[in-house]
Amino acid sequence: STRNVLSDGTKIEDLIKVDTREVQMRALSDHEIYDLEMQRVFGHSWLLLGHETEIPAENDFIVRDMGSDSVIVARGKNDQISVSLNVCPHRGMKISTVDAGNTPIHKCIYHGWAFRPNGDFLASPVEKECMHGTMMSKAELSLEQARVTLYGGLIFATWDHEGESFEDFLGDAKWYFDILFQRSDKGLEVLGPPQRFVVRANWKTAGEQSAADGFHTLTLHRWLGEVGNYAKSGQEGGADLSPEMIGVEVSSPHGHALRCIDLGRKIRKLTGLDPDVLSVDQKLDALPPPGVTREMVPQLKRKLSEDQLKVLVSMPPQVGGIFPNVLFAFVYIPQSDGTVLGLTLLHAYVPKGPDQLEFVNWVLAEKDTPQELKEKMLRQSIQLFGTSGMVEQDDSDTWPHMTTAAKGARGRKSTLKYQAVYATGAPEGWPGPGIVNEGFTKDDTQWHWWLHWHELMLANA
Ligand code: FES
Ligand code: FE
Repeated sequence: STRNVLSDGTKIEDLIKVDTREVQMRALSDHEIYDLEMQRVFGHSWLLLGHETEIPAENDFIVRDMGSDSVIVARGKNDQISVSLNVCPHRGMKISTVDAGNTPIHKCIYHGWAFRPNGDFLASPVEKECMHGTMMSKAELSLEQARVTLYGGLIFATWDHEGESFEDFLGDAKWYFDILFQRSDKGLEVLGPPQRFVVRANWKTAGEQSAADGFHTLTLHRWLGEVGNYAKSGQEGGADLSPEMIGVEVSSPHGHALRCIDLGRKIRKLTGLDPDVLSVDQKLDALPPPGVTREMVPQLKRKLSEDQLKVLVSMPPQVGGIFPNVLFAFVYIPQSDGTVLGLTLLHAYVPKGPDQLEFVNWVLAEKDTPQELKEKMLRQSIQLFGTSGMVEQDDSDTWPHMTTAAKGARGRKSTLKYQAVYATGAPEGWPGPGIVNEGFTKDDTQWHWWLHWHELMLANA
């Protein structure tokens, strides 16, 4: 569609007021906007579909979504991973109707047309009797292919075959993402299949929050500071979560976002020493990153630059987003025995209509992480995050309310207001690239998220 005006006359351009930093609330529920963003945002972005360790063997496959389209993600010959549109070219039946499996042949249940894991058309069961040489070429009957890339084993795909490379898509944020996803010899693996559950909310309520909204922790997740281990781990009185709000935030012209949170307090508590006097090695020894044991530390040193290591041990990226709909969390969770347990998680918020999203939650660990630690990480993740997790039940309770509010006759005319946007700049000597701001968490990252959404909505018309 080349339309830049909605049916009531509103211009797409006016959905965002750049000078006052406002977003028209109707964007969180409007079906016309939703249809356009499926083409303009999800049709042109690199989308997270899963991790290659979900399909370790030849002919393994998983069924996932790219925006509003179902796709088959399969491992074929020579370890080639393909992403095929899950629509039969015959009469449009969904070819794979299960979530995952292993098969050398994907056969459509309607009339039996059959396809290879890489989407190649194989045969139709009654070709001789039925077709009499009237069939199109095999290439024309094969499944539509998305462009695929693997990054730290994560499977990303896009329908935009001419668009930017994955590297360009990550841009400056890659330097930071490499610290998380490319830091060990064998890389990450999934700890079981992802949890998947539906939330009655527009995907952008979750997508925007994933662009490093730190501020809400103080109110929505306030209980974290009042009960349990966070409270115990704090200074006397416990409840103050605000030290966790201080760090470095990285915004990106591509809408990616990172919150790098100061580890100093935790390291001080664990060692009793001033973190400023500790070397990189001493910090790694005191508090290795999530899923990394002391034995694995040499791997970090091989894979990461000195500057990346410095960031990892002092102000590591802990939460943030990959545009448009992914959240990552590489967090350090205080335990009752005074130790800290690191968790590694990824979420995708898959749009399922203007009022619905599917929350897909992967729990990950380094392949080399000892089994016992993996189990601890999995258990703690399930307790805190995802479907059953205490923390993210808070978040997924707010998103539906915002979506409903955006449908109200008055509500839809309201705006979202981005107030805390001001550049503080990078701390002195900060080695990483990007739009960097230090200090207390603010709205810069989320505002950049919206700006990129707006840019795609206009550019891909
Ligand atoms: Fe798939 Fe006919 S719709 S074989
Ligand atoms: Fe939250």
